Amino acid sequence: MKFLVLGAAAGGGLPQWNCGCPNCNDARAGAIPASGQSSLAVSVNGDDWAVLNASPDIRQQMLVCPAMHPQSLRHSPVASVLVTNGDIDHIAGLLSLREQTHFDLFATADIHQVLSDNRIFDAVNRAKVTRHDIAPDAPFALLDGLDARLFPVPGKVPLFMEGDMVQTDLIGGQTVGVRLQSGTKVAYYIPGCADVTADLLERIGDADQLFFDGTLWDDDEMIRSGTGIKTGRRMGHIPISGTDGSMARLSGLSCAKTYIHINNTNPIWQPASPERAAVLAAGWRIGADGQETDL
Ligand code: MLT
Ligand code: MN
Ligand code: ZN
Repeated sequence: MKFLVLGAAAGGGLPQWNCGCPNCNDARAGAIPASGQSSLAVSVNGDDWAVLNASPDIRQQMLVCPAMHPQSLRHSPVASVLVTNGDIDHIAGLLSLREQTHFDLFATADIHQVLSDNRIFDAVNRAKVTRHDIAPDAPFALLDGLDARLFPVPGKVPLFMEGDMVQTDLIGGQTVGVRLQSGTKVAYYIPGCADVTADLLERIGDADQLFFDGTLWDDDEMIRSGTGIKTGRRMGHIPISGTDGSMARLSGLSCAKTYIHINNTNPIWQPASPERAAVLAAGWRIGADGQETDL
């Protein structure tokens, strides 16, 4: 499997249009790399690609990536798109793929329902873009030679569908992780996850490579930095740090590990930060746009 990070940032990107936090200012000034919103591409033959989550930045993400360029008059190397939840950063890019080229669109029935309920997605022609409902744990071919399964991870409904009461540890079809297998190699992609449960730990025990939710360093980082009023867990994202954070909870996994879906407030974006050093010392890679991983 070949992986290509199309966008390492969380919703909003880095910099975010309305944010003057130190990271966003540094990214705007070119002092640290800017990053697009959450998306990962995967291929087994290097020609046909699956895009895991279609971010609002997908047009630019494909433009700067030669592997994503058309090979003939009307063509795209993108053979399939998979969506892991109904959040805007993961579905809005579908609207940029509406120009009548076939691909397969994989998601759970719950996530497809979000698309069906929002008529703007009817612009993505069902006669060209085949929508496949994937049941939890049902094997399917994401690409020729690439076996995949979806599985529920703790999460919540999309932000724009939240009611007065929000359950942030729902286990169902609204937030899923992806297991990918080619030959004997196994990778997991989990860009949104509210908690690392014992069930999840057991499930991903066979990983050779893990791409995992690195939204926030600290659960209250957005509150402390004055950029938001919610904790990470309230947003459906386990923080990296702390005894019950993802770095500690996943420390027993000896596979290669990469943080992706990193919020613009996260101190791990800063090259000289102690937080970045701690993540690297724990053996993690930190996602970056254009980063390649061969497995
Ligand atoms: C998230 O990951 O929490 C969402 O992308 C938030 C959003 O929709 O902006
Ligand atoms: Mn997101
Ligand atoms: Zn910012």
